[in-house]
Amino acid sequence: MEMEKEHRSSHPRLVLVPLPFQGHINPMVQLGSILHSKGFSITVLHTAFNSPIPSNYPEFVFVSIPDNLSEQLISADDLLPFISLLNLNCGVLFQECLAKMVQKQEVENEPSIACIIYDECMYFCDAVAKYVKLPSIVLRTTSASTYLSRNAILQLKAEGVLTSQVSTSQDLVPGLHPLRLKDLPVSKIGTPEIFLQFITNIYKTRTSSAIIWNTNDVLEQPSLREIQKQCQVGIFPVGPLHEVAPASSSSLIKEDNSCITWLEKQKQNTVLYVSLGSLASVDKKELGEMAWGLANSKQPFLWVIRPGSVDDQEWKKLLTEGFVEAVGENGCIVKWAPQKEVLAHGAVGGFWTHCGWNSTLESISEGVPMICKPCFGDQRVNARHASQVWRIGIQLENMCERGEVERAIKRLMVDKEGKEMRQRAKNLKERIQLDIREGGSSYNSLNELIELIMSF
Ligand code: UDX
Repeated sequence: MEMEKEHRSSHPRLVLVPLPFQGHINPMVQLGSILHSKGFSITVLHTAFNSPIPSNYPEFVFVSIPDNLSEQLISADDLLPFISLLNLNCGVLFQECLAKMVQKQEVENEPSIACIIYDECMYFCDAVAKYVKLPSIVLRTTSASTYLSRNAILQLKAEGVLTSQVSTSQDLVPGLHPLRLKDLPVSKIGTPEIFLQFITNIYKTRTSSAIIWNTNDVLEQPSLREIQKQCQVGIFPVGPLHEVAPASSSSLIKEDNSCITWLEKQKQNTVLYVSLGSLASVDKKELGEMAWGLANSKQPFLWVIRPGSVDDQEWKKLLTEGFVEAVGENGCIVKWAPQKEVLAHGAVGGFWTHCGWNSTLESISEGVPMICKPCFGDQRVNARHASQVWRIGIQLENMCERGEVERAIKRLMVDKEGKEMRQRAKNLKERIQLDIREGGSSYNSLNELIELIMSF
């Protein structure tokens, strides 16, 4: 066990336990930054696997736990078995570490630990908190609608409706308009059985005192109201966390800032930013269709092709035949981008996204409309909301071919329809800005959360 930084303060300490993936580390450390700015000391208890980079947050204490997990690249298909293994492997080691921290605080008169805040997927923390007699709070990093749609899966399973046809059915999910059965987060990341077990594990109401949510009333008030009716404990929608937190990067991959220089040369609202987040991948056929759809649209684009995100190591060869010539200076491809900075850049007028919840929030927060091409899990739910509820996105259904891609890009970037979406996205951005300021619901939720923590 390695203490990377010693830090003393008179404020209560909070122990944060993130799930070690980019889309989960980001909201957890953003929450840590917000709570640190309110006077709390922060310790991040993390796995050695995908360890966050301590130098990005010199104000936190980072404690690394050996987890016996190999440093392999995890794809979306491996995710659920991996999370299950993580929960099996980590309990004892985290418990020993926390017990030592609690002992140390008593012996050395260190600031007391007020509570443990853990990612919903690190559900072993509930038992650990109970063992060391500390209160715990769950952080849910997906949308409130995702929570309800996962509940619907359990319900449909109980009613015997959860069949293999679900993944293609256009029928609406009862009570969850406008979600269709095919939007439910059941496919790709595992068989229904392993997925049902996963939902049961993350949703079991155990002993946690509250639930923090990276969302807010502007985006999801009806879902949040419904959830509060169902929950035994208080829910605190304090998002979007990245907007409330002081600006910083928690990127696990080095960001290529050269794309900002490229963006500087582009005209206002003309660039389509393309990224599928940290886990989703495409096969070489899809890559080819995306590439030629982008090239044929003649619209400038900034495309993130993450290492491992194409199922063919030799993918670069696929883009050479005429593609580079066709695109010229009109395209920029990087391995990883400073996404929040990119979305905030005036040249970016649209985002082709897989609709991970962080990307969705980041796009909305900058008033950028989307082309939604969900890949797995909660992304379908987010895509449906972007296109049908907030009406700021065009959803590409099924496997896309280059003609469809080109048309979608023109609709978003050139047509009146896209301009209207951009206007709606800008309106949402403004409402979110008001919501996180004094008097807004997100602002109030944060104050109530702090009051709760101080009462422990
Ligand atoms: C995962 C799931 O896939 C997603 O559906 C769930 O909601 C959260 O966990 P991920 O697929 O990585 O996350 O997507 P997303 O939630 O969008 O998070 C990706 C993060 O990486 C974003 O915060 C984004 O800003 C960042 N990013 C992405 C970069 O910093 N640079 C990039 O080039 C791409």
